[in-house]
Amino acid sequence: MVTKAVIPAAGLGTRFLPATKAMPKEMLPVVDKPAIQYVVEEAVAAGLDDVLFVTGRSKRSLEDHFDRNLELEVALSQKGDLERLALVNASTELARIHYVRQGDPMGLGHAVLLAEQHVGNEPFAVLLGDDLIDERDAILPAMLKVQEKFGGSVIALMEVPPDQISLYGCAATEFTDVYDVVRITNLVEKPAVGEAPSNLAIIGRYVLDPSVFGVLAKTAPGRGGEIQLTDALRDLAMTDPAKGGGVHGVIFRGRRYDTGDKLSYLQAVVRLAADRDDLGPEFRAWLADFVREQR
Ligand code: UTP
Repeated sequence: MVTKAVIPAAGLGTRFLPATKAMPKEMLPVVDKPAIQYVVEEAVAAGLDDVLFVTGRSKRSLEDHFDRNLELEVALSQKGDLERLALVNASTELARIHYVRQGDPMGLGHAVLLAEQHVGNEPFAVLLGDDLIDERDAILPAMLKVQEKFGGSVIALMEVPPDQISLYGCAATEFTDVYDVVRITNLVEKPAVGEAPSNLAIIGRYVLDPSVFGVLAKTAPGRGGEIQLTDALRDLAMTDPAKGGGVHGVIFRGRRYDTGDKLSYLQAVVRLAADRDDLGPEFRAWLADFVREQR
């Protein structure tokens, strides 16, 4: 059974400079919560309340966010502001949180490899801290079921327009007898537009067999000089299922945002704010006026 979630949050976040100069991109607020809190909430909702963060240079704000803040707790208790006190405590009480440090950001594969000691010999989930999946369209529970049924590892896939596939890892697949579940036959990291085997892009949710660690340890740096998780998954896709191999994909058709990308981040903020009961009505009215004025 899968009980542990690993959340890599040690990338440099260069696409979001200068905001990410001294703060991980995973801490950027989406309405009023850091992006990474949504991701932890998603893991916990899927039953994974043991969370390991892989953190990098500017990890301080992230650690502080999931730790207690006595000054705020005292101030809010004295004021009797229980509502805000609950907001302060929510992130502290959410999960059992552990940290491992990635000294040099040598790639997502390297970040996952650092989880080996904590994870041990069980399948585990990986959720990218900058990849926000709308809670109404949760995919992790379906991925956990697919892992139970087929064993091996499971990745999340999303159809993208052909001209965007070179931004993602891309999967070659075969149908299975389960709707929206495919078997992975090959994976290519960020293929050139004409060379992509499909329009199915890998998104930031994985359920991995622990044999991925042995493969990652032997994986040479790939694209961009980084150790690529996609390269290790390609190896696993071609490995005997009796040795922990085999990779399946679950096709995601819901709302998802890459909060490390400025445009997608803005879309996440607008969408989630517009859907909120407290802010939504006023924000939507303003937004409608704003859009009308722009025409
Ligand atoms: P990205 O490729 O989106 O992260 O990695 P990045 O390198 O920070 O992004 P840009 O392009 O410079 O803006 C996907 C995920 O893997 C983590 C990132 O934090 C992100 O959640 N990651 C990436 C690591 O933890 N370590 C790494 O060495 C690289």
